[in-house]
Amino acid sequence: MTELRIYSDADPAAPQIESSDFETIQALLARAGIKLERWHTNAVIESGVDTHAILDAYAEDIERLKREGGYQTVDVVSMVPSHPEKDLLRQKFLDEHTHREDEVRFFVDGQGLFSLHVGEQVFEVLCTRGDLISVPAGTPHWFDMGPNPRFTAIRLFDNPEGWVAHFTGSNIAGQYSRLDN
Ligand SMILES: [Fe+2]
Repeated sequence: MTELRIYSDADPAAPQIESSDFETIQALLARAGIKLERWHTNAVIESGVDTHAILDAYAEDIERLKREGGYQTVDVVSMVPSHPEKDLLRQKFLDEHTHREDEVRFFVDGQGLFSLHVGEQVFEVLCTRGDLISVPAGTPHWFDMGPNPRFTAIRLFDNPEGWVAHFTGSNIAGQYSRLDN
């Protein structure tokens, strides 16, 4: 289930707002300029299903988003707890960073915790199956897949080279929630 916690960026001790109601979460994020959508499919997506079947199942939403955001490239990534480099890959995006393009992710399955630093607030968004999130270009954020990562996600890009993490050097991420799945 999708969850949102909003904190002051000066107080990681307790959230100002918590919600697990999708429409409430969507509205709160929209106010901060963050897109969250719930996508539906009639196709049966089971683990091990191939990339083409996944992209086919969500083709309409993918095409719409490409038009809206000008994205050029789409791929599918998967993580499982047995991945030999899971710790390294988890560490890679745990600190606050930005990208020069939107970070657009649709969770076909599994989950991941996106934390966005917008103004003087931190938005922790637990994305689960069926959620599309877009982190706007230039927005400081971090991502935690947890110690036992499991997800399949569709990624949309402007161009793969644009998707480099620029670290802000802040240690803020370590003060907020991690995904302890
Ligand atoms: Fe990122």
